[in-house]
Amino acid sequence: MNYRHSFHAGNFADILKHVALMRVLAYLAQKETPFRVIDTHAGAGLYDLAGSDASRTGEWREGVGRLDSFAFTPRAREIMAPFTETLTALSQGGRLYPGSPALIRHALRTQDRAAFNELHPEEFGLLHRLAGRDERVALTHLDGYTAWKAQIPPSEKRGLVLVDPPFEKEDEFSRLADGMSLMARKWASGLAMIWYPIKHRRAVANFEARCRESGFGKVLAVELHVDEITVDGPLAATGLMFANPPWTLADEMTSLLPELSACLARGTTARWRVDWLCGP
Ligand SMILES: C[S@@+](CC[C@H](N)C(=O)[O-])C[C@H]1O[C@@H](n2cnc3c(N)ncnc32)[C@H](O)[C@@H]1O
Repeated sequence: MNYRHSFHAGNFADILKHVALMRVLAYLAQKETPFRVIDTHAGAGLYDLAGSDASRTGEWREGVGRLDSFAFTPRAREIMAPFTETLTALSQGGRLYPGSPALIRHALRTQDRAAFNELHPEEFGLLHRLAGRDERVALTHLDGYTAWKAQIPPSEKRGLVLVDPPFEKEDEFSRLADGMSLMARKWASGLAMIWYPIKHRRAVANFEARCRESGFGKVLAVELHVDEITVDGPLAATGLMFANPPWTLADEMTSLLPELSACLARGTTARWRVDWLCGP
């Protein structure tokens, strides 16, 4: 386990992931009934952008560092608002970047619950410091796929599983696809949101094919490319796979991504994609 998210926090991939995450949570909060969020690979939860890890890569400068200077339309601002307002509340003037557990906690109401899982001992210690005293939150220190399997379906019956693995292992796409199929059997009405890097087109196509056959009736793929993809170069494209996304999400992403891809572009070939693999 070498991956540390502190090197990458606030990069373009985090922006897509966290904007979408906060839209999903805002949608879930439209009903009074409680929901649960299960974050299988939670990370530390809060990252110091002036710290040595973030400074070494400087990735955040081409991510969160660009948001304030881009002239977004009012519609794009509205779509991003659940994320940007939380960022303003938690970032201490732009010094910190909130990871998924910090963002999720901010979106929870008193009746909602979250389960954060993290395997790395140091990251788990930091996560515990951030959220250990929050009575709405349960922390586990397991393999993320074990946590996913063990914690569904939650008693609330309404909610989201966020799966955001480090992609250090060759079989990560296959384990994600297995998890999707298992979830379709155990919690067919649950929302799933999976993050993945796009480095090899064929690996992504195989993953999409398996998600089409997962058993979920509604599967949506969203991609953001900030440059041409290369196998060995820096990450240039990222994807999110959703099962049972909010019915509004595809339109929101289609409205936002032309502007977000222009804002975060590294080269002249930035592009995006929103595609239903199953359903609507
Ligand atoms: C991409 S980061 C998570 C970022 C976080 N979800 C966010 O959006 O802020 C992936 C995390 O998974 C953790 N990790 C690595 N292997 C794991 C495993 N087998 N099970 C659970 N967590 C793992 C890493 O320590 C790292 O913190």
